[in-house]
Order: sequence, then C-alpha cells, then structure tokens
Amino acid sequence: MKGKSLISINDYSKEEQIKILDLAAEFEKNPVQNILEKYVVATLFFEPSTRTRLSFESAVSRLGGKIIGFSDSSSSSVKKGESLKDTIITVSNYSDLIVMRNPVEGSARYASEVSKVPLINAGDGANQHPTQTLLDLYTIRQTQGNLDNLHVAFVGDLKYGRTVHSLVIALCNYNTTFHLVSPIELKLPSAVKMHIKDKNLTYFQYTDMNDVIPQVDILYMTRIQKERFSDSLEYERVKNLYILNKNMLKGIKENLKILHPMPRVNEISTDVDNTPQAHYFQQALNGVYVRQALICSILGLK
Ligand code: CP
Repeated sequence: MKGKSLISINDYSKEEQIKILDLAAEFEKNPVQNILEKYVVATLFFEPSTRTRLSFESAVSRLGGKIIGFSDSSSSSVKKGESLKDTIITVSNYSDLIVMRNPVEGSARYASEVSKVPLINAGDGANQHPTQTLLDLYTIRQTQGNLDNLHVAFVGDLKYGRTVHSLVIALCNYNTTFHLVSPIELKLPSAVKMHIKDKNLTYFQYTDMNDVIPQVDILYMTRIQKERFSDSLEYERVKNLYILNKNMLKGIKENLKILHPMPRVNEISTDVDNTPQAHYFQQALNGVYVRQALICSILGLK
C-alpha cells in the first residue's frame, strides 16, 4: 500500500483492507507511538466535519506527526479564486500525505492525479467515503467476530449517503444480505446495486424500518443529507421518516448492533444511547485506530 492513494474503497483489495483492519487492532492496543515524528500530514476540508478531520488529526498527533491544513476553505486562497489543482500541487510540496474532503464528486480522484504525494479521500460529495468504510468494517468485525454472511440493514438516505455507497461495495466481499430501507426517492443508486448483483448477492428493499429490525445483525442508520437536496420541500417531506427509539428494539437478534456514521440529527433517539445495541460512539473512536493504520501503511512505515 506504500504510496497508494485511497479514493474509492475498491482501490484497495479485500486483502489490503483486512491488513488495515488487523493493523488498526494493534493500534487500538497501543495508540501512542512515535512513528510519524518526521512526517507532515495535510488535512484540507472544503466541507464541514467533526469525526473525520479530528480523528485523522488525533491519529497523526498520537503518532508524533505534524498537521497542516484548513477546516474551512474560506480561510485559504481558494477564497481568492485559486483552483483545486494549484491548491493541491502547492500543499503536496508541503506535506507527505494529503487528506481531502470536498463537496464535488470526483474531485478526490482528480486531486490524486495532480498531487505529488498520496491522497486520501475523506468524502467527495455524495460519492464515496472510503476511510469511513474501513472503520465501519473494523467495527462490524469487532461486534460480530467476523464479516461473513451477515444481514445488514441500511436505513435512511441511501441515495446521497456516501458512507452507505462505500460500505455496500466493501460488504459485497463478504456474502452479505442487504436490507435497504429508504423512501422511494432516496433509494440506493443503481450503480451501487450493480456491485451487489455482480456478486450474485441478495438485497431487499423496504420503506418501513420496523420490517427489518428483527432480521438483522447490523442496523446502519443514516442522516437524511439535507445539504445534497436541490428542493427543500422534498427534504422537509422525508426528514422525519426514520427515527429509531428504544421501544422499537423488540424481538431483535441477540447480536444486533446499531451503527451510524454520524453526525445524527434526530434519526436515533437518545434513549437508544444506553442500550447494549448502541455502538456508534465506539464506531467513531475506532476511526482513530483505523486512520493510524491507513496513514502508516501509505507512508510505508508499517
Ligand atoms: N462520519 C463522518 O464523516 O462524520 P463527520 O462529517 O463529522 O466527519
């Protein structure tokens, strides 16, 4: 993986993904080390973030590395009209690795092509979020013991949810049965469903979340992505359709875990937080270990 950018989850083979998860498990046991002492990582966030940016920065800091970058592009020369290409070439002269989030689909691939250093896609519009997928796989394996033959439900905005797109594609390596719950207008895009069909796996589509809760091992809740809607009335119509509360967790499988890439708005009531099924804060913490593993692998240090 040395020198290899991560833009789409399939840029890394199943074996490479597992190597990252195994290395992340080592970092979970020992997250403070001095591996990145001589390295500078740039985090360029053209879109808001809490978990992704701060867990990358925490990962680097705990390994002794330096961080440069911005969390708001209006404080950079982008505000003066500088192009993405010029920004990336410049920052790649200042750093060993770039982590970028950008609202434009395909921007991460383009940036990786002009960058002199490897680039990690921290989310490009509604397209992909591959590092979230690695931490999701890590968390699923942590909670279920393995990744094979699971029933996984995705609930909410399956059209614009980039974490869903990347994770569905990755889970196609593991004989997953997919339960897809969304309003008609926010169904999983056909291009993502093609990955399921190509592997001859099964998916079911629903509009009612209650139909899937007793059947699944993982319930992956998502936020309706307000910022991606061109019609605000359409957002208003769907924004409260899926709200999971404690009373709905009846007749569930013993091993059920609830995940959410976060941030949540209202799709998981806070009364779920203290149930044994809630695992979304641990999921966000796992992002530090997985990103430590990814950074060290790309820099050829592990
Ligand atoms: N999961 C995730 O991408 O969260 P942030 O938007 O807070 O980075």
